[in-house]
Amino acid sequence: MQRIPVRAASAAYEVIVEADCLEKAAEYLGPVVKNRRLFVVADERVWHAQGDRLRKGLADLPFELITAELGEQRKRLSTVEAMAERLHQAGADRSAVLAAFGGGVAGDMVGFLGAAYMRGVDVIQIPTTLLSQVDSAVGGKTGVNLAGGKNLFGAFLQPKLALIDTHALDTLPEREIRAGLYEVIKYGVIWSPELFDLLENKRDAVLAREAELIERIVAESVRIKAEVVAEDEREGGLRRILNYGHTFGHALEAETRYELLLHGEAVGWGMIAAGRLGEALGTISHEERLRIERVILAYGPIPSLEGVDAARTAPRVMGDKKTIGGKTNFILPERIGQVKVVSDVAMDAVEAAMQAALDAVAASS
Ligand SMILES: NC(=O)c1ccc[n+]([C@@H]2O[C@H](COP(=O)([O-])OP(=O)(O)OC[C@H]3O[C@@H](n4cnc5c(N)ncnc54)[C@H](O)[C@@H]3O)[C@@H](O)[C@H]2O)c1
Ligand SMILES: [Zn+2]
Repeated sequence: MQRIPVRAASAAYEVIVEADCLEKAAEYLGPVVKNRRLFVVADERVWHAQGDRLRKGLADLPFELITAELGEQRKRLSTVEAMAERLHQAGADRSAVLAAFGGGVAGDMVGFLGAAYMRGVDVIQIPTTLLSQVDSAVGGKTGVNLAGGKNLFGAFLQPKLALIDTHALDTLPEREIRAGLYEVIKYGVIWSPELFDLLENKRDAVLAREAELIERIVAESVRIKAEVVAEDEREGGLRRILNYGHTFGHALEAETRYELLLHGEAVGWGMIAAGRLGEALGTISHEERLRIERVILAYGPIPSLEGVDAARTAPRVMGDKKTIGGKTNFILPERIGQVKVVSDVAMDAVEAAMQAALDAVAASS
Protein backbone atom coordinates (compact mmCIF):
# COMPACT_ATOMS: atom_id res chain seq x y z
CA MET A 1 0.00 0.00 0.00
CA GLN A 2 1.26 3.46 -0.82
CA ARG A 3 -0.07 6.76 0.46
CA ILE A 4 0.87 9.64 -1.77
CA PRO A 5 0.23 13.17 -0.54
CA VAL A 6 -0.87 15.80 -3.06
CA ARG A 7 -0.26 19.37 -1.98
CA ALA A 8 -1.90 21.57 -4.59
CA ALA A 9 -2.29 25.31 -4.04
CA SER A 10 -6.04 24.99 -3.46
CA ALA A 11 -6.15 21.77 -1.44
CA ALA A 12 -4.16 18.92 0.08
CA TYR A 13 -5.29 15.30 -0.05
CA GLU A 14 -4.06 11.74 -0.21
CA VAL A 15 -3.96 9.20 -2.96
CA ILE A 16 -4.10 5.59 -1.80
CA VAL A 17 -2.64 3.01 -4.19
CA GLU A 18 -3.29 -0.55 -3.11
CA ALA A 19 -4.36 -3.77 -4.76
CA ASP A 20 -7.77 -4.77 -3.36
CA CYS A 21 -8.42 -1.54 -1.46
CA LEU A 22 -11.97 -1.54 -2.89
CA GLU A 23 -12.72 -4.33 -0.42
CA LYS A 24 -11.60 -2.03 2.39
CA ALA A 25 -13.21 1.11 1.00
CA ALA A 26 -15.00 2.03 4.24
CA GLU A 27 -11.72 2.24 6.09
CA TYR A 28 -10.48 4.95 3.72
CA LEU A 29 -13.73 6.69 2.83
CA GLY A 30 -15.18 6.70 6.35
CA PRO A 31 -12.94 9.44 7.78
CA VAL A 32 -13.65 11.65 4.75
CA VAL A 33 -17.39 11.06 4.60
CA LYS A 34 -17.92 11.19 8.40
CA ASN A 35 -21.65 11.22 9.04
CA ARG A 36 -22.63 12.83 5.75
CA ARG A 37 -24.55 11.22 2.89
CA LEU A 38 -22.38 9.40 0.38
CA PHE A 39 -23.48 9.10 -3.24
CA VAL A 40 -21.54 6.69 -5.41
CA VAL A 41 -21.91 7.93 -8.97
CA ALA A 42 -20.77 5.11 -11.22
CA ASP A 43 -20.21 4.30 -14.85
CA GLU A 44 -22.85 1.60 -15.35
CA ARG A 45 -20.43 -0.78 -17.04
CA VAL A 46 -17.90 -0.39 -14.26
CA TRP A 47 -20.56 -0.99 -11.65
CA HIS A 48 -21.35 -4.29 -13.38
CA ALA A 49 -17.68 -5.27 -13.52
CA GLN A 50 -16.46 -4.04 -10.13
CA GLY A 51 -19.47 -2.83 -8.14
CA ASP A 52 -19.81 -5.89 -5.93
CA ARG A 53 -16.31 -5.35 -4.62
CA LEU A 54 -17.01 -1.74 -3.74
CA ARG A 55 -20.36 -2.63 -2.19
CA LYS A 56 -18.67 -5.22 -0.03
CA GLY A 57 -15.91 -2.79 0.94
CA LEU A 58 -18.36 -0.10 1.97
CA ALA A 59 -20.23 -2.60 4.18
CA ASP A 60 -21.11 -0.47 7.21
CA LEU A 61 -20.78 2.85 5.44
CA PRO A 62 -24.22 3.64 4.01
CA PHE A 63 -24.27 4.94 0.44
CA GLU A 64 -26.74 5.69 -2.29
CA LEU A 65 -26.00 4.56 -5.82
CA ILE A 66 -26.45 6.49 -9.03
CA THR A 67 -25.35 4.68 -12.19
CA ALA A 68 -25.36 6.12 -15.67
CA GLU A 69 -24.45 4.90 -19.09
CA LEU A 70 -21.27 6.85 -19.83
CA GLY A 71 -18.72 7.11 -22.61
CA GLU A 72 -16.92 9.85 -24.49
CA GLN A 73 -20.08 10.59 -26.54
CA ARG A 74 -22.08 11.00 -23.34
CA LYS A 75 -19.51 13.26 -21.70
CA ARG A 76 -21.76 16.27 -22.13
CA LEU A 77 -23.33 18.89 -19.94
CA SER A 78 -26.77 17.32 -20.46
CA THR A 79 -25.59 14.10 -18.79
CA VAL A 80 -24.19 16.06 -15.84
CA GLU A 81 -27.47 17.94 -15.59
CA ALA A 82 -29.39 14.66 -15.44
CA MET A 83 -27.08 13.46 -12.66
CA ALA A 84 -27.67 16.70 -10.77
CA GLU A 85 -31.43 16.26 -11.06
CA ARG A 86 -31.14 12.77 -9.64
CA LEU A 87 -29.05 14.04 -6.74
CA HIS A 88 -31.59 16.74 -6.05
CA GLN A 89 -34.53 14.33 -6.23
CA ALA A 90 -32.72 12.14 -3.74
CA GLY A 91 -32.49 15.13 -1.42
CA ALA A 92 -28.73 15.65 -1.62
CA ASP A 93 -27.71 18.94 -0.02
CA ARG A 94 -24.48 20.91 0.40
CA SER A 95 -23.07 18.32 2.76
CA ALA A 96 -23.32 15.45 0.26
CA VAL A 97 -20.16 13.59 -0.71
CA LEU A 98 -19.86 12.20 -4.24
CA ALA A 99 -17.64 9.26 -5.14
CA ALA A 100 -16.79 8.97 -8.84
CA PHE A 101 -16.49 5.29 -9.74
CA GLY A 102 -15.22 4.58 -13.24
CA GLY A 103 -12.64 5.71 -15.77
CA GLY A 104 -11.61 9.20 -16.79
CA VAL A 105 -15.01 9.94 -18.25
CA ALA A 106 -16.77 9.25 -14.93
CA GLY A 107 -14.04 11.09 -13.00
CA ASP A 108 -14.18 14.22 -15.15
CA MET A 109 -17.98 14.30 -15.14
CA VAL A 110 -18.57 13.58 -11.48
CA GLY A 111 -15.75 15.96 -10.58
CA PHE A 112 -17.52 18.67 -12.52
CA LEU A 113 -20.86 17.71 -11.01
CA GLY A 114 -19.27 18.09 -7.59
CA ALA A 115 -17.78 21.47 -8.47
CA ALA A 116 -21.18 22.82 -9.49
CA TYR A 117 -23.80 20.98 -7.42
CA MET A 118 -25.02 23.44 -4.79
CA ARG A 119 -21.96 25.50 -5.79
CA GLY A 120 -19.64 22.76 -4.67
CA VAL A 121 -19.67 19.52 -2.67
CA ASP A 122 -16.88 17.12 -1.73
CA VAL A 123 -15.72 14.56 -4.28
CA ILE A 124 -13.78 11.32 -3.89
CA GLN A 125 -12.18 9.75 -6.94
CA ILE A 126 -12.19 5.96 -7.35
CA PRO A 127 -10.62 5.48 -10.79
CA THR A 128 -10.87 2.09 -12.50
CA THR A 129 -8.92 2.43 -15.76
CA LEU A 130 -5.14 2.63 -15.96
CA LEU A 131 -5.41 6.02 -17.65
CA SER A 132 -7.59 7.45 -14.91
CA GLN A 133 -5.44 5.93 -12.15
CA VAL A 134 -2.19 7.39 -13.47
CA ASP A 135 -3.57 10.63 -14.77
CA SER A 136 -7.08 12.02 -14.59
CA ALA A 137 -8.06 11.16 -11.00
CA VAL A 138 -5.28 13.35 -9.63
CA GLY A 139 -4.84 17.01 -10.39
CA GLY A 140 -8.33 18.47 -10.23
CA LYS A 141 -9.20 19.08 -13.87
CA THR A 142 -12.86 18.25 -14.45
CA GLY A 143 -15.31 18.91 -17.22
CA VAL A 144 -17.26 17.82 -20.27
CA ASN A 145 -17.01 18.11 -24.04
CA LEU A 146 -18.65 20.69 -26.28
CA ALA A 147 -19.68 19.93 -29.86
CA GLY A 148 -16.56 21.76 -31.02
CA GLY A 149 -14.02 19.98 -28.87
CA LYS A 150 -13.05 17.92 -25.87
CA ASN A 151 -13.01 19.17 -22.29
CA LEU A 152 -13.90 22.73 -23.24
CA PHE A 153 -16.40 23.21 -20.40
CA GLY A 154 -15.32 22.53 -16.86
CA ALA A 155 -13.78 23.57 -13.60
CA PHE A 156 -10.89 22.84 -11.29
CA LEU A 157 -11.87 20.77 -8.27
CA GLN A 158 -9.37 18.76 -6.27
CA PRO A 159 -10.87 15.62 -4.73
CA LYS A 160 -10.78 14.99 -0.98
CA LEU A 161 -9.28 11.56 -1.59
CA ALA A 162 -8.36 9.29 -4.48
CA LEU A 163 -8.66 5.57 -3.86
CA ILE A 164 -6.83 3.50 -6.45
CA ASP A 165 -7.33 -0.25 -6.55
CA THR A 166 -4.90 -1.61 -9.13
CA HIS A 167 -6.77 -4.89 -9.01
CA ALA A 168 -9.80 -3.20 -10.55
CA LEU A 169 -7.79 -3.24 -13.78
CA ASP A 170 -8.28 -7.01 -14.03
CA THR A 171 -11.50 -6.57 -15.97
CA LEU A 172 -10.21 -3.79 -18.19
CA PRO A 173 -9.73 -4.72 -21.88
CA GLU A 174 -6.13 -5.14 -23.03
CA ARG A 175 -6.34 -2.22 -25.44
CA GLU A 176 -7.30 0.15 -22.60
CA ILE A 177 -4.30 -1.07 -20.60
CA ARG A 178 -1.93 -0.34 -23.45
CA ALA A 179 -3.48 3.08 -23.94
CA GLY A 180 -2.87 3.87 -20.27
CA LEU A 181 0.71 2.63 -20.52
CA TYR A 182 1.52 5.29 -23.11
CA GLU A 183 0.73 7.91 -20.46
CA VAL A 184 3.08 6.05 -18.11
CA ILE A 185 5.82 6.16 -20.77
CA LYS A 186 5.12 9.89 -20.89
CA TYR A 187 5.98 10.24 -17.19
CA GLY A 188 9.20 8.35 -17.78
CA VAL A 189 10.29 10.67 -20.56
CA ILE A 190 9.27 13.95 -18.91
CA TRP A 191 10.48 13.11 -15.42
CA SER A 192 11.85 9.71 -14.47
CA PRO A 193 14.61 7.70 -16.17
CA GLU A 194 14.00 4.95 -13.58
CA LEU A 195 10.37 4.58 -14.57
CA PHE A 196 11.38 4.56 -18.23
CA ASP A 197 13.98 1.83 -17.60
CA LEU A 198 11.38 -0.24 -15.80
CA LEU A 199 9.01 -0.02 -18.76
CA GLU A 200 11.82 -0.78 -21.17
CA ASN A 201 13.10 -3.82 -19.27
CA LYS A 202 9.87 -5.34 -17.99
CA ARG A 203 7.56 -5.00 -20.94
CA ASP A 204 6.26 -8.56 -20.89
CA ALA A 205 5.62 -8.58 -17.15
CA VAL A 206 3.92 -5.19 -17.37
CA LEU A 207 1.64 -6.36 -20.17
CA ALA A 208 0.94 -9.54 -18.19
CA ARG A 209 -0.26 -7.16 -15.43
CA GLU A 210 2.06 -8.55 -12.79
CA ALA A 211 0.42 -7.18 -9.66
CA GLU A 212 3.43 -5.75 -7.86
CA LEU A 213 4.77 -4.13 -10.99
CA ILE A 214 1.47 -2.49 -11.87
CA GLU A 215 1.16 -1.12 -8.34
CA ARG A 216 4.67 0.31 -8.59
CA ILE A 217 4.03 1.88 -11.97
CA VAL A 218 0.75 3.44 -10.89
CA ALA A 219 2.18 4.78 -7.63
CA GLU A 220 5.22 6.24 -9.38
CA SER A 221 3.05 7.93 -12.01
CA VAL A 222 0.79 9.41 -9.35
CA ARG A 223 3.83 10.64 -7.45
CA ILE A 224 5.13 12.44 -10.53
CA LYS A 225 1.77 13.97 -11.36
CA ALA A 226 1.39 15.07 -7.73
CA GLU A 227 4.78 16.77 -7.80
CA VAL A 228 3.98 18.61 -11.01
CA VAL A 229 0.54 19.68 -9.81
CA ALA A 230 1.92 20.80 -6.44
CA GLU A 231 4.17 23.21 -8.25
CA ASP A 232 1.65 24.42 -10.82
CA GLU A 233 -2.01 23.60 -10.25
CA ARG A 234 -3.46 25.70 -13.07
CA GLU A 235 -1.00 25.06 -15.85
CA GLY A 236 0.81 28.37 -15.88
CA GLY A 237 4.21 26.78 -16.24
CA LEU A 238 5.52 23.38 -15.21
CA ARG A 239 2.20 21.55 -15.68
CA ARG A 240 2.56 22.12 -19.41
CA ILE A 241 5.14 19.32 -19.55
CA LEU A 242 2.28 16.87 -18.96
CA ASN A 243 1.19 17.77 -22.48
CA TYR A 244 4.19 16.00 -23.98
CA GLY A 245 2.80 13.97 -26.88
CA HIS A 246 -0.56 15.71 -26.54
CA THR A 247 -0.18 18.63 -28.96
CA PHE A 248 0.26 16.17 -31.82
CA GLY A 249 -2.03 13.61 -30.20
CA HIS A 250 -5.03 15.92 -29.84
CA ALA A 251 -4.74 16.96 -33.49
CA LEU A 252 -4.72 13.33 -34.59
CA GLU A 253 -7.70 12.48 -32.38
CA ALA A 254 -9.66 15.35 -33.93
CA GLU A 255 -8.53 14.49 -37.46
CA THR A 256 -9.77 10.92 -37.01
CA ARG A 257 -13.00 12.22 -35.41
CA TYR A 258 -12.31 10.56 -32.06
CA GLU A 259 -13.34 7.26 -33.61
CA LEU A 260 -10.14 5.55 -34.55
CA LEU A 261 -7.88 5.97 -31.53
CA LEU A 262 -8.09 5.84 -27.79
CA HIS A 263 -6.65 8.95 -26.18
CA GLY A 264 -3.58 7.11 -24.90
CA GLU A 265 -2.88 5.70 -28.35
CA ALA A 266 -2.97 9.18 -29.83
CA VAL A 267 -0.51 10.29 -27.13
CA GLY A 268 1.76 7.35 -27.98
CA TRP A 269 1.82 8.44 -31.58
CA GLY A 270 2.18 12.10 -30.54
CA MET A 271 5.29 11.26 -28.52
CA ILE A 272 6.82 9.66 -31.60
CA ALA A 273 6.07 12.84 -33.56
CA ALA A 274 7.48 15.03 -30.76
CA GLY A 275 10.66 12.94 -30.79
CA ARG A 276 11.02 13.34 -34.54
CA LEU A 277 10.48 17.09 -34.23
CA GLY A 278 12.94 17.27 -31.35
CA GLU A 279 15.62 15.50 -33.33
CA ALA A 280 15.02 17.76 -36.34
CA LEU A 281 15.32 20.85 -34.15
CA GLY A 282 18.30 19.49 -32.26
CA THR A 283 16.77 19.17 -28.80
CA ILE A 284 17.53 15.43 -28.59
CA SER A 285 20.12 13.06 -30.04
CA HIS A 286 19.24 10.46 -32.64
CA GLU A 287 20.08 7.55 -30.29
CA GLU A 288 18.02 8.85 -27.39
CA ARG A 289 15.05 9.61 -29.66
CA LEU A 290 15.23 6.10 -31.08
CA ARG A 291 15.27 4.55 -27.62
CA ILE A 292 12.05 6.38 -26.70
CA GLU A 293 10.40 5.45 -29.97
CA ARG A 294 11.29 1.76 -29.58
CA VAL A 295 9.67 1.59 -26.17
CA ILE A 296 6.51 3.31 -27.42
CA LEU A 297 6.24 0.89 -30.33
CA ALA A 298 6.96 -2.07 -28.04
CA TYR A 299 3.75 -1.27 -26.16
CA GLY A 300 1.79 -1.18 -29.42
CA PRO A 301 0.16 -1.80 -31.71
CA ILE A 302 -1.17 1.67 -32.41
CA PRO A 303 -4.07 1.20 -34.88
CA SER A 304 -3.20 1.82 -38.50
CA LEU A 305 -3.18 5.48 -39.44
CA GLU A 306 -3.45 4.84 -43.15
CA GLY A 307 -5.26 7.66 -44.88
CA VAL A 308 -4.30 10.30 -42.31
CA ASP A 309 -2.81 13.23 -44.17
CA ALA A 310 0.07 15.07 -42.50
CA ALA A 311 -0.46 18.24 -44.52
CA ARG A 312 -4.09 18.42 -43.39
CA THR A 313 -3.36 17.54 -39.79
CA ALA A 314 -0.42 19.90 -39.24
CA PRO A 315 -2.61 23.06 -39.12
CA ARG A 316 -4.69 21.38 -36.41
CA VAL A 317 -1.53 20.93 -34.38
CA MET A 318 -0.78 24.63 -34.71
CA GLY A 319 -4.31 25.46 -33.53
CA ASP A 320 -4.25 23.27 -30.41
CA LYS A 321 -6.27 24.70 -27.51
CA LYS A 322 -3.14 24.97 -25.38
CA THR A 323 -2.11 27.79 -27.70
CA ILE A 324 -1.62 31.00 -25.77
CA GLY A 325 -1.12 34.33 -27.53
CA GLY A 326 -1.09 32.67 -30.93
CA LYS A 327 1.88 30.42 -30.19
CA THR A 328 1.72 26.66 -30.04
CA ASN A 329 3.86 25.17 -27.31
CA PHE A 330 5.64 21.96 -28.15
CA ILE A 331 6.97 19.81 -25.35
CA LEU A 332 10.06 18.24 -26.85
CA PRO A 333 12.34 15.64 -25.29
CA GLU A 334 15.94 16.56 -24.46
CA ARG A 335 16.79 13.20 -22.97
CA ILE A 336 14.91 10.52 -21.07
CA GLY A 337 13.73 12.27 -17.92
CA GLN A 338 13.78 15.78 -19.31
CA VAL A 339 11.73 17.82 -21.77
CA LYS A 340 11.61 21.46 -22.77
CA VAL A 341 8.96 23.84 -24.06
CA VAL A 342 9.61 25.13 -27.58
CA SER A 343 7.21 27.59 -29.13
CA ASP A 344 8.61 28.95 -32.38
CA VAL A 345 8.20 26.02 -34.69
CA ALA A 346 7.52 26.32 -38.42
CA MET A 347 4.57 24.55 -40.01
CA ASP A 348 6.77 22.52 -42.39
CA ALA A 349 8.81 21.15 -39.50
CA VAL A 350 5.59 20.06 -37.82
CA GLU A 351 4.31 18.46 -40.98
CA ALA A 352 7.60 16.63 -41.57
CA ALA A 353 7.59 15.29 -38.00
CA MET A 354 4.01 14.09 -38.41
CA GLN A 355 4.79 12.35 -41.66
CA ALA A 356 7.83 10.65 -40.11
CA ALA A 357 5.70 9.48 -37.17
CA LEU A 358 2.96 8.19 -39.48
CA ASP A 359 5.60 6.25 -41.41
CA ALA A 360 7.12 4.85 -38.21
CA VAL A 361 3.76 3.53 -37.04
CA ALA A 362 2.98 2.09 -40.48
CA ALA A 363 6.36 0.33 -40.59
CA SER A 364 5.79 -1.20 -37.15
CA SER A 365 2.43 -2.80 -37.90
N1 LIG B 1 -8.92 15.36 -15.86
C1 LIG B 1 -7.77 15.06 -16.39
O1 LIG B 1 -6.71 15.55 -15.99
C2 LIG B 1 -7.74 14.07 -17.52
C3 LIG B 1 -6.52 13.53 -17.94
C4 LIG B 1 -6.53 12.56 -18.94
C5 LIG B 1 -7.72 12.16 -19.51
N2 LIG B 1 -8.90 12.70 -19.09
C6 LIG B 1 -10.17 12.26 -19.67
O2 LIG B 1 -10.36 10.89 -19.39
C7 LIG B 1 -11.23 10.33 -20.37
C8 LIG B 1 -10.72 8.98 -20.79
O3 LIG B 1 -10.69 8.14 -19.65
P1 LIG B 1 -10.60 6.57 -19.77
O4 LIG B 1 -9.56 6.22 -20.75
O5 LIG B 1 -10.49 6.07 -18.40
O6 LIG B 1 -11.97 6.18 -20.49
P2 LIG B 1 -13.40 5.73 -19.93
O7 LIG B 1 -13.75 6.34 -18.66
O8 LIG B 1 -14.34 5.92 -21.07
O9 LIG B 1 -13.20 4.16 -19.71
C9 LIG B 1 -12.88 3.34 -20.81
C10 LIG B 1 -13.83 2.15 -20.93
O10 LIG B 1 -13.50 1.18 -19.94
C11 LIG B 1 -14.64 0.84 -19.16
N3 LIG B 1 -14.11 0.52 -17.83
C12 LIG B 1 -13.60 1.38 -16.93
N4 LIG B 1 -13.07 0.73 -15.89
C13 LIG B 1 -13.25 -0.58 -16.12
C14 LIG B 1 -12.91 -1.75 -15.42
N5 LIG B 1 -12.21 -1.72 -14.28
N6 LIG B 1 -13.28 -2.94 -15.95
C15 LIG B 1 -13.94 -3.00 -17.12
N7 LIG B 1 -14.26 -1.93 -17.85
C16 LIG B 1 -13.93 -0.73 -17.36
C17 LIG B 1 -15.55 2.03 -19.26
O11 LIG B 1 -16.88 1.69 -19.05
C18 LIG B 1 -15.29 2.48 -20.69
O12 LIG B 1 -16.05 1.73 -21.58
C19 LIG B 1 -11.29 11.32 -21.50
O13 LIG B 1 -12.57 11.90 -21.53
C20 LIG B 1 -10.24 12.36 -21.15
O14 LIG B 1 -10.59 13.65 -21.59
C21 LIG B 1 -8.91 13.65 -18.10
ZN1 LIG C 1 -3.46 12.35 -21.76
